[in-house]
Amino acid sequence: MSKGKEIIQQPVIELVTELGAGDMEDLCDATDKAILDGNGFGWLKPPARPKQQAFWKGVMTMPVRELYCARLDGSIVGTGQLVKPFANNEASGHIAQISTFFIAPYARGHGLAIGLLAVIEQSARKQGFKSLEVDVRETQKAAISLIENSDFSRWAVKEKYAFDGERYVRGFYYVKDLEVAEDQ
Ligand SMILES: CC(C)(COP(=O)(O)OP(=O)(O)OC[C@H]1O[C@@H](n2cnc3c(N)ncnc32)[C@H](O)[C@@H]1OP(=O)(O)O)[C@@H](O)C(=O)NCCC(=O)NCCS
Repeated sequence: MSKGKEIIQQPVIELVTELGAGDMEDLCDATDKAILDGNGFGWLKPPARPKQQAFWKGVMTMPVRELYCARLDGSIVGTGQLVKPFANNEASGHIAQISTFFIAPYARGHGLAIGLLAVIEQSARKQGFKSLEVDVRETQKAAISLIENSDFSRWAVKEKYAFDGERYVRGFYYVKDLEVAEDQ
């Protein structure tokens, strides 16, 4: 690399409430790559673009969902959602969940997932949630390592958690007690 042409890969995590056309394209591209890599939060193959765009627009319009995006060098490369309980669910009103958590394969290893998780947890704590839950396929080794290193405890295993197109895959259910002080 020639002098003065150092590439700076700047990671950013942000709360997203609307997306311009370019950002939406980047988000859909990142999602497609994550689906092809084996984790599509339900999708087994990349959906048609209009369908995927409608999905993300729907997420942004729902008051119970906070959509966070990770950017690398300005482009959206991954997401995570904080999913809050509906107003009627008073009995479980203390529990929030994490959903659509991924970083596209080409942007992994920059600490973006650690940043996303920290921001989601911070938002859950600020809004008074007592528990933060997440579930993951047993095959997602990187995510399991991240979750277990972030003080989540595995409380259940579901045998037929997901069907990957050929076979059933088990799912691991995790919870983090947010009433425990952050530095413990
Ligand atoms: C899990 C995932 C989000 C990690 O993204 P990432 O941006 O590369 O992760 P980071 O660079 O922030 O690393 C965070 C931690 O994840 C774990 N991790 C990341 N890649 C790993 C790997 N290949 N093997 C084992 N652990 C790994 C480590 O604990 C790492 O911390 P460390 O660097 O201190 O060891 C990404 O691999 C992914 O999108 N996987 C597919 C989708 C998925 O499984 N989602 C989870 C649903 S809850």
